[in-house]
Amino acid sequence: MTATPLIAPSLLAADFARLGEEVQAIDAAGADWLHLDIMDGHFVPNISFGPDIIRAIRPFSKKCFDTHLMIAPVDPYLEAFAKAGADRIIVHAEAGVHLERTLAAIGALGKAAGVALNPATPESAVAYVLDRVDLILVMSVNPGFGGQAFLPAVLEKIRRVRALIGTRPIHIEVDGGITTQSAPAVLAAGADVLVAGSAVFRAPPYARAIAALREAAAQ
Ligand code: DX5
Ligand code: ZN
Repeated sequence: MTATPLIAPSLLAADFARLGEEVQAIDAAGADWLHLDIMDGHFVPNISFGPDIIRAIRPFSKKCFDTHLMIAPVDPYLEAFAKAGADRIIVHAEAGVHLERTLAAIGALGKAAGVALNPATPESAVAYVLDRVDLILVMSVNPGFGGQAFLPAVLEKIRRVRALIGTRPIHIEVDGGITTQSAPAVLAAGADVLVAGSAVFRAPPYARAIAALREAAAQ
């Protein structure tokens, strides 16, 4: 889509013993947003962190806290994440049966709303909620863990999401297995935001890792 994608490093791959410093470091290294992966051990087979951690790290960066909720149910927790300092709240289309209501609730909390699609979920799941969101998150791995391999079948879905949103001001973010190898095809398919955990936090210095993703995108 664009030669200058936004880079959203996922804190899931950071050193959890030094989270505040990690947030400061990734901000200083040129991250556009911080991607926060929230896992409940129920919707996904892993547990990460919750609103109290977000509140604790909030003072360390002014950048967008792009908060990806992999939890079900989600509605009872939206307010807690909003109050903790999330800027955008992304919910999974598969996490509940009343997606439109959930997105309206996020909007009522004064936050940007996004919808995430698991690899097996078709783009039609978001067709009738596009006026409620500023971002569609296309998962390129099955959510739950960092460091998984990119699933190439999602490239076709990214193209379809791009066609679906037309001229609306909606970001297409891709999450899972993003590297300098997978990024060019993801951007060519129409994405404009790259989430990267391992490719940034496990490849210091962070500024060089972020620059490498941007350079790969420009090719
Ligand atoms: C997966 C998470 C991702 C993950 C990405 O469930 O949503 O954000 O941290 O990690 P990498 O970039 O290592 O695949
Ligand atoms: Zn994520």
